[in-house]
Amino acid sequence: MTGTKLIMTFPVTATSHLLADVRARGGYTTLDKVLRTMRPEEVTKEVAASGILGHGGAAFPAGRKWGVIKLNDEQPHYLCANADEGEPGTFKDRWILENAPHLLLESMLIAAYALQVRHAFVYIRGEFDLPYRRLADAVEEAYAAGLFGERIMGTDFCCDIVIYRGAGSYVCGEASALITSIEGKKGYPRNRPPRLTVRGLYQKPTVINNVETLANVTGIVAHGAEAFRKVGTAKSPGTQLVSISGHVERPGVYEVEYGTPLAKFIYGECGGGLGGSKIKCIVPGGISTKVLTAEEIETVTYDHVSLSAAGSGVGSGGMVVIGEGSCMVRLLQILLRFYHHESCGQCTPCREGMGWMHRIIDRIVAGEGRMDDIDQLIRISKANDGATICGMGDAAGYATLGILAKYRDEFEFWITNKRSRFEGRIEVAGGVTEHA
Ligand SMILES: Cc1cc2nc3c(=O)[nH]c(=O)nc-3n(C[C@H](O)[C@H](O)[C@H](O)COP(=O)(O)O)c2cc1C
Ligand code: SF4
Repeated sequence: MTGTKLIMTFPVTATSHLLADVRARGGYTTLDKVLRTMRPEEVTKEVAASGILGHGGAAFPAGRKWGVIKLNDEQPHYLCANADEGEPGTFKDRWILENAPHLLLESMLIAAYALQVRHAFVYIRGEFDLPYRRLADAVEEAYAAGLFGERIMGTDFCCDIVIYRGAGSYVCGEASALITSIEGKKGYPRNRPPRLTVRGLYQKPTVINNVETLANVTGIVAHGAEAFRKVGTAKSPGTQLVSISGHVERPGVYEVEYGTPLAKFIYGECGGGLGGSKIKCIVPGGISTKVLTAEEIETVTYDHVSLSAAGSGVGSGGMVVIGEGSCMVRLLQILLRFYHHESCGQCTPCREGMGWMHRIIDRIVAGEGRMDDIDQLIRISKANDGATICGMGDAAGYATLGILAKYRDEFEFWITNKRSRFEGRIEVAGGVTEHA
């Protein structure tokens, strides 16, 4: 891969998640330096100067978020790492939790110092097993070594950490829902303002960052904002961990420097379509980002500016490759079933809209679709946009509009012929298709 790696800086071995291994490679020396030589506001200033954008999907500048917290305001502040990672196709935070849990913990301690946080949390996806065990073991090791608790590293800084396991709800990855879930209530998103940095967990100022966003903090503080900005582009500094799956030759987690040509990453690093097959399109950043066709892949670079100019986005970093011969009607059916199932039901456009869209797509697949159904799906998607408490209502619409704009003919074919255009082909490994 081109460019400097910021997170995958050490080889993954059987022991790379253990404290002894991490310490032998200089782990926790940045925390030591911060606690002894920097004031909290200097840390936030460095993070702001790095220009790092959130890696959880919304790409909000981390420094700006941290800057809202008023130090010395005589009230508790909270920090929470969002490790829910529920977006289908996304498994990059999992890589950090399994292979570099101490990188997250050191970064969280630095963030906690900067934000004057006494109690920090990690909200981790309930289905995660190995990532949870690795993180829990790392926390135990860190406590035993005096890296959490009272008077950390012999300084006045004290911080405790709690791991909170989710219970399988996609919407609990949304920051305000995550907070209500930690508080022991139903994981419902809530309207803003007030922002969570003003009134968050237990009604107190709270910073919620994605695992990968936080994992970058140690490197930013260790090497300085200027060094961080040398990687990536002016408006998308740094790198992105991309989890890539689907009909691709070499699936996995890669660290991609922002600004890398997308085709170079997919066809070079990842080996292109599975078994040499043609790629039809990709979902670049979790199912809530709009699909990009094979032609569009050739024209964009992997960064926020280029992907959003192409009508899509970096999103959650979960890239899914869709091979030639895959049916987009069936794909949309799967997506709408997911969104309908995961809607928390608070907002009418989302609760009713998801169910309505799900019923329409099921009707089309059952051979009972009407040509007007396609425009109806578009109308519902547009009506949801901006009309709901959280981003899920919008997200389902984006996915639907993206697929219908580029593959409308497949829906028309199915409605007219009561079957998929791709029927009569045999699906073989990885979606490579052959005629029967
Ligand atoms: C339905 C929904 C699910 C989300 N799931 C996640 C998630 O699993 N992990 C995550 O980091 N952010 C998720 N987010 C985004 C969070 O609300 C929030 O923006 C993010 O955790 C902030 O961290 P960042 O600024 O470091 O990106 C989700 C948002 C929505 C609307
Ligand atoms: S948009 Fe959907 S998931 Fe989000 S709060 Fe409203 S009903 Fe719940």
